[in-house]
Amino acid sequence: MGKEIAKLPSPLAEKYRATAKLDALRAAEYARLDAGGHVYLDYTGGGLYAEAQLRAHLELLRTHVFGNPHSSNPTSQAMTDLVEGARAYILKFFNADPNEYCAIFTQNASGALKLVGEAYPFEPNDRYLLTFDNHNSVNGVREFARARGAHVTYVPVLLPDMRLDQSALREELERPRVKGNNLFAFPAQSNFSGVQHPLEFVEWAHARGWDVLLDAAAFTPTNRLDLGQVKPEFVTQSFYKVFGYPTGVGALIAKRETLKKLHRPWFAGGTITVASVQGDKYYLSEGEAAFEDGTLNYLNIPAVEIGLRHIDAIGYAAIHERVTLLTQFLLDGLNALHHSNGATLVRVYGPLDTQQRGGTVTMNFYDAHGRAMDHREIERRANAQNISLRTGCFCNPGGGEIALGITGTELSQCFRQPGHEARFTIDDFRMCVDGKSSGAVRVSVGLVSNLADVETFLEFAASLVA
Ligand SMILES: Cc1ncc(COP(=O)(O)O)c(C=O)c1O
Repeated sequence: MGKEIAKLPSPLAEKYRATAKLDALRAAEYARLDAGGHVYLDYTGGGLYAEAQLRAHLELLRTHVFGNPHSSNPTSQAMTDLVEGARAYILKFFNADPNEYCAIFTQNASGALKLVGEAYPFEPNDRYLLTFDNHNSVNGVREFARARGAHVTYVPVLLPDMRLDQSALREELERPRVKGNNLFAFPAQSNFSGVQHPLEFVEWAHARGWDVLLDAAAFTPTNRLDLGQVKPEFVTQSFYKVFGYPTGVGALIAKRETLKKLHRPWFAGGTITVASVQGDKYYLSEGEAAFEDGTLNYLNIPAVEIGLRHIDAIGYAAIHERVTLLTQFLLDGLNALHHSNGATLVRVYGPLDTQQRGGTVTMNFYDAHGRAMDHREIERRANAQNISLRTGCFCNPGGGEIALGITGTELSQCFRQPGHEARFTIDDFRMCVDGKSSGAVRVSVGLVSNLADVETFLEFAASLVA
């Protein structure tokens, strides 16, 4: 490790050494990474869990009898206590006032987004404003908005940094539907470019009469989100992205007051106080219960609290610092790579420094004649070296279209081709944007990434130099 740190410029080396506890943690709790020779660079896809999380969860399950929560029998009550404890811990973790916010358990961030989309009271001429840079599960909310006659507007991001066009955003925010329902959605961090969009947008939007949906899924793995400071109406979250285990649990953290104006499209077991067959009537529960359909993933929910406590014990300061340093090292290393004729090897989509950006770095590789190399081929080669990275557009088509220069006109032409009214495969898409890359390569560093991981990737990238 000392040898690797020597590669860092000395102020960075000093800072890196200050995060050495993460190396000890990796050795003790994530030994399977190095034992298996893994170079894991897909933290934006999914976080990794510590063995201690598994031990603690298993011990809990092994030593208790748990029944379906929300009954008064002893096994049910024991489970209810843990579920409610985890719910309270989530709010504490995000410094959310329990009188102001509640935590609704969902399957994942997408489940949380769907809850908002289907229940937000969009009416004709209301507005759904969102950034080009969004995960598809945020884009998908537009279908609910449109179906109810609301206007959907996208605010572009600008090359080369892929930051939001702030003047376009201000212009749109100035035009809410007066006395209407106006929802603005953006990601705290892009899962495409790693850009961290300013959280001040939340207040800008509030001041102009908008509700705000903040997608925190790519942000919270390496950054503290403080809901005592930033107060969006809705925050969406997948816990496996933060601490790897368990999958299948996410949360919608929502303002209690705003929940009152949502209209759920149905009722289900658990969401009502009373429902009657003969009386043909139902009464929705208050608060979080109204949004949790059927039986929760209750045995896994205590593992969420275990995971959050794990992050708390490490501290975001160290995680954030480590990720920032590695990201800088990665960006500098990639930028320094050129073909022997001087041509650029790598084009990074997004900021080249670590100001307001996270540890997600997306790029394409170019040959010595400036032709894009197929990202699928890059992935195949990386796979062969046990490097886990991700290629494609990462469910963020707006980010991809801007980065790759694919225009709306081109896309409309593609989608209008005969035979493509209802079906369009990824291969059809590739054929249609022939000549342009249809995707990119994404590497992302996280909780227990180290310099050796980044070094290995840079060596891999250097092997593509001609
Ligand atoms: C920014 C962002 N939002 C939302 C999601 C959706 O998360 P999930 O697939 O866990 O629902 C992801 C997943 O990659 C993401 O990166």
